[in-house]
Amino acid sequence: MPPAFQNLKLDLAGGIATLTVNRPDVRNALDLATVKEFHEALRVLAEEESLGVLILTGAGDTTFVAGADIREIRARNVKDALAGINTHLFAAVERFPRPTIAAVNGYALGGGCELALACDIRIASEKAKFGLPELGLGIIPGAGGTQRLPRIVGWGRAKHLIFTGEVLDAAKAEQFGLVSRVVPPDRLLEAAREIASKILTRGPLAARLAKLSLNAAARVDLDSGLLVEMLAQSVCFGSEDKVEGTTAFLEKRPAKFTGK
Ligand code: COA
Repeated sequence: MPPAFQNLKLDLAGGIATLTVNRPDVRNALDLATVKEFHEALRVLAEEESLGVLILTGAGDTTFVAGADIREIRARNVKDALAGINTHLFAAVERFPRPTIAAVNGYALGGGCELALACDIRIASEKAKFGLPELGLGIIPGAGGTQRLPRIVGWGRAKHLIFTGEVLDAAKAEQFGLVSRVVPPDRLLEAAREIASKILTRGPLAARLAKLSLNAAARVDLDSGLLVEMLAQSVCFGSEDKVEGTTAFLEKRPAKFTGK
């Protein structure tokens, strides 16, 4: 039974968890209470054996997440900023030990955009909008925006978006490689679940190790990355999933993976 939250909704069924940021009155802005709940949700879900994929989305039909709570930002000082509240949350999302999908249903601004950037896969409704407006508040996108955005869309586009605060619509976001699919709004969660269902047919241990290896690729030089990849592959080669996956192929039947 998933725990009950004030500012999040959590649904877990058939190996797919859907975590919804649920503060529609303030466009799902991330205040400290929500960040704390988010960490707790990730902790609980990471321990959930049956879980294969985590989908993140926002409540209501206009906004994914409108960033950090600007009232709180206004009150925060240098020491608070050094605590890296959203930096740590989005790092936890990026490190989450299963594939994650951001289902971006509307505005993903500031920290909302950074949250989506920390997910493994981003898909968008036709109504989605992406932007990093922080410079307009006299601050920078300080929870991964200056680091993850250029790795995904390239330096020139990232600098353009961060310096100008321009907002991308879903079609442009797809063209920039920021999202991998755009669907009608009423199809968004269904589309996210279809992708999740495909992932669930893959070897779960292999999915976890592929994620570790891919995350390393963004951080280390090629030789170190290839070493991580080889070690991850070696773990796969010692697994029951590898025996099952290869045997199922040869026996022309679907694999029944156990994640061991
Ligand atoms: N933090 C705190 N409150 C926020 C918020 C945020 N990031 N984003 C929206 N809200 C609040 C508004 O202050 C408003 O509160 P009120 O009803 O008490 O006046 C309420 O949410 C609705 O916002 P509103 O701007 O009227 O909604 P909208 O649908 O017209 O516009 C957005 C939606 C997301 C485009 C707009 O709210 C916005 O630009 N938000 C700020 C985005 C931002 O700069 N994020 C970076 C933060 S680092």
